Amino acid sequence: MKLLVTGGCGFIGSNFIRFVLRNHPDWKIVNLDKLTYAGNLKNLEGIEANERYKFVRGDIADRALVDKLFSQEKFNAVVNFAAESHVDRSILDPSPFVETNIKGTQILLEAARKYPVERFVQVSTDEVYGSLGETGFFTEESPLRPNSPYAASKAAADLLCRAYHKAYGIPVIITRSSNNYGPYQFPEKLIPLMIRNALIGKELPVYGEGKQVRDWLYVEDNCQAIDLVLQKGRVGEIYNIGGGCEKRNIEVVEMICDILERLVPDTVALYGSPRTRIRFIKDPRGAAHDFRYALDCSKIASDLGWRPKVCFEEGLEKTVKWYLENQDWVESVITGEYLTYYERVYGGR
Ligand code: NAD
Ligand code: DAU
Repeated sequence: MKLLVTGGCGFIGSNFIRFVLRNHPDWKIVNLDKLTYAGNLKNLEGIEANERYKFVRGDIADRALVDKLFSQEKFNAVVNFAAESHVDRSILDPSPFVETNIKGTQILLEAARKYPVERFVQVSTDEVYGSLGETGFFTEESPLRPNSPYAASKAAADLLCRAYHKAYGIPVIITRSSNNYGPYQFPEKLIPLMIRNALIGKELPVYGEGKQVRDWLYVEDNCQAIDLVLQKGRVGEIYNIGGGCEKRNIEVVEMICDILERLVPDTVALYGSPRTRIRFIKDPRGAAHDFRYALDCSKIASDLGWRPKVCFEEGLEKTVKWYLENQDWVESVITGEYLTYYERVYGGR
């Protein structure tokens, strides 16, 4: 198996590359990544020397580069993680989301048309379905009702995948997962942002009243599901992948505070209890802020036998510990770009 992984220097992609190299001793991986602010070579430290792994810096929306790579490497399969992934950034500027998430996906599909592969896994998101009220679940048949430019760009990519499958027989399979968390997540996202702010004595900015609900999925569980879909999923199908663990944002933030109170009493003594620094701020997402996501995952359970293994309490504790032990990683991925972005979203609030 020679696998093209795109976006392998990001959060889920880097976890997936480690997972594959560990679990498939005869597979080879080429990682194509542009190294945007969210992509970091440090996420794969220790892997570079592996002879089954090769890194190529490049843009999935660069047609000539993608074409050349496919013609040279003769991939058996593609897993497309590469994307602009942050909702708040998409509200500030949708353009890079259209360029990478839509055009980039189309260029990969074109390459797969010219240089056939056995599988093309498109890593999509539950956000394409839009928002739920207090009850109900999205199935793979739910209509697409994206609310943010990020979600719209992912939905557009899903539709291109569907069309390339129908029109040209490209062996596409789409995964739609819920919110991932775990090691190597860039600290613009809720969980790592709150951990970092708590550790350095900053305020913990909760949007609105913190009542929105997310379904949390430990990243290793998602990697296992994607690996299963890649090997055994039915071509042309869509698979929801959820953690089965719904929490309101405020509950998540309070759980992080409580874990830190227990694990780092010295820091708590220095800055005071992190719970006292929780601030409810004006919601930067406005009407684009989806209230609740929840997935019906009976299809992947019955077709492929997949279920999440890590419960939220265990996964969150592991994640907080990882961030405590890797504070140098966190500070190394934060650049002036992040500080400017942070000021734009949180500065005036
Ligand atoms: P991330 O932002 O951490 O990483 C994205 C990676 O893609 C980075 O390494 C970046 O450098 C790379 N990239 C961006 N634009 C590129 C381009 N034009 N060409 C090549 N590489 C490029 O994202 P993530 O959280 O790891 O998400 C990975 C995928 O999973 C995305 O497609 C996202 O939509 C999807 N997803 C994420 C979640 C989640 O909770 N994080 C949930 C569901 C789906
Ligand atoms: O559901 C899957 C999606 O999950 C993925 O497709 C996205 O790529 C991924 O970023 C994630 O999107 P969310 O917008 O749900 O994740 P985020 O961590 O940015 O926010 C989670 C919730 O926390 C959301 O309701 C907004 C809220 N939030 C977020 C931040 C960064 C806050 O209250 N304060 C914050 O500072």
